Amino acid sequence: MTHPHFPSATAIETLNKVIRTRRSIKPAEFSAEPVSDDVINEMLENANWAPTHGMTEPWRFFVISGNARIQFGEYLSRLYLEITPAEQVKPAKAGKLKNNAEASSHMIVIAMKRQPSGRIPEIEEVEAVACAVQNLHLTATAHGVGGYWSSGKAICNDRLRDDLGLSKEDKVLGLFYVGMPAGDWPDGTRTAMADKVTHLTERFEVT
Ligand SMILES: Cc1cc2nc3c(=O)[nH]c(=O)nc-3n(C[C@H](O)[C@H](O)[C@H](O)COP(=O)(O)O)c2cc1C
Repeated sequence: MTHPHFPSATAIETLNKVIRTRRSIKPAEFSAEPVSDDVINEMLENANWAPTHGMTEPWRFFVISGNARIQFGEYLSRLYLEITPAEQVKPAKAGKLKNNAEASSHMIVIAMKRQPSGRIPEIEEVEAVACAVQNLHLTATAHGVGGYWSSGKAICNDRLRDDLGLSKEDKVLGLFYVGMPAGDWPDGTRTAMADKVTHLTERFEVT
């Protein structure tokens, strides 16, 4: 089977570049410049092309921008104070949730919609959403747009799930902050891939 456009040296070079330069860039590193809705829509469209077991397409995104993002930041900050046991509350965290929202151009709540049949294991639905987020993040990178996947209890909780109108079986998996990077694009680091891969060529033996 041949693909009409590939292999293509240009595509491979571009793909390698986009994958390897994708970085987590946080709201504190965003400028005030807004990200265009066209870019956001392209990020979402590419997210929709993630692989999906049984074609369940479990990714759900709530895109928050404009004045709504200020209100959402205040909501998250309030929610954090409400759901966190008093002795564990870090006041700086409440402030950060608000500031992050103000500093972002858009925020995208990442959610997983469980199929009523439950036919596909939940972990596979979460995996499909993660693939969608990677597509979204790579598309942002190709546009020079910054972003990062924020998780943690302040975001991945049942209250936000319910308040967004999702069902009990669904899950909020995080918040993707989006903005234009203010400074230099950061470098990334990874330990050697060779340490994480086992090649079996001559023989496969079960121990
Ligand atoms: C599922 C998931 C959840 C994450 N949650 C957080 C988070 O809550 N806070 C954070 O600082 N970074 C979070 N990150 C981003 C990682 O910190 C980041 O990917 C890692 O430091 C590697 O940096 P890079 O993305 O620039 O390569 C998350 C990443 C993933 C995949």
